[in-house]
Amino acid sequence: MRVASLFCGCGGLDMGFVKAGYDIVWSNDFDKYAVQTYNLNFNHPAVCGDINKIDLNDIPEHDVLIGGFPCQPFSMMGKEQGFSDHRGTLFFKVMEIINNQRERGHQPRIVVLENVRNLMTHDKGRTFAVMKQELEKLEYHVFPANLNSADYGVPQTRNRVFLVCLMDDIKYIFPAPERNEKKVQDILEQNVKDKYFLSERILKTIMSNGTGGYYAKSEIDLPIARPLTATMAKMHRACQDNYVTQEKGVRRLTPRECARLQGFPETFKIEVSDAQAYKQFGNAVTVNVSYAIAKSILEQVENE
Ligand SMILES: C[S@@+](CC[C@H](N)C(=O)[O-])C[C@H]1O[C@@H](n2cnc3c(N)ncnc32)[C@H](O)[C@@H]1O
Repeated sequence: MRVASLFCGCGGLDMGFVKAGYDIVWSNDFDKYAVQTYNLNFNHPAVCGDINKIDLNDIPEHDVLIGGFPCQPFSMMGKEQGFSDHRGTLFFKVMEIINNQRERGHQPRIVVLENVRNLMTHDKGRTFAVMKQELEKLEYHVFPANLNSADYGVPQTRNRVFLVCLMDDIKYIFPAPERNEKKVQDILEQNVKDKYFLSERILKTIMSNGTGGYYAKSEIDLPIARPLTATMAKMHRACQDNYVTQEKGVRRLTPRECARLQGFPETFKIEVSDAQAYKQFGNAVTVNVSYAIAKSILEQVENE
């Protein structure tokens, strides 16, 4: 099945679909470094540009539209402005793209959207209700679920909401959680460069348990990692980011380890700076989760 991918980033969501046998025919992101990584790793190059400026008639016919639309407006860490923040309106851009395809006589049968867990409860559930209504107007049956990456074979807690939207009248069932025995310690690189180790001074700040009225216990060497974040290059306290102990001391995760925690294959090429790589993997959908969803859709839609 042919896939068009919006907000593709470095390609976590796309990678799962490719692995499940889908064919990406078009993808887009406006971050040139994310596109650089994407183009090194996929056969089909992503178009680099702002989706608001792209001629929608240039998006080719496809059966499946996928996209993790930017989540800042819905994230707990953001200001919770939802649709009033212009980035929130990118959801409506997705609707416009579907409408454009529909008018050209080839509406995608399947749409898969991803976002932060908070999407479901934002504005007392009204934000999600609006989205569901918009998707239903376009004749989709909408199936939402929160999936945790730790349940799909990677040692990382990462809760994300997936909306599987199907034109076929079937009751879609999300893939069941799998047994996961992998621990962070199993995916660590050996002999990593000194730059990843923390100085005594930074270590003290990183390990502090919070300031003022805010307290959170800083723990390191967790067997299941905390959610990777797009801003982890900045190094937050150990209650927010992941740090591990190795023979030379305490260190941050390397970009390759972040790629592993997101289910990317060992062959995945990383040629951007560390800061860009952390951002890309922190933004990505876990490949294992994407693969499990992509595979389950194929099975259920084809059975139909
Ligand atoms: C959460 S990330 C998506 C990650 C991707 N789904 C993955 O699995 O790797 C959101 C992406 O949307 C892109 N983006 C945000 N606004 C955009 C716009 N107006 N046009 C194109 N891309 C945009 C960002 O550059 C970012 O890479």
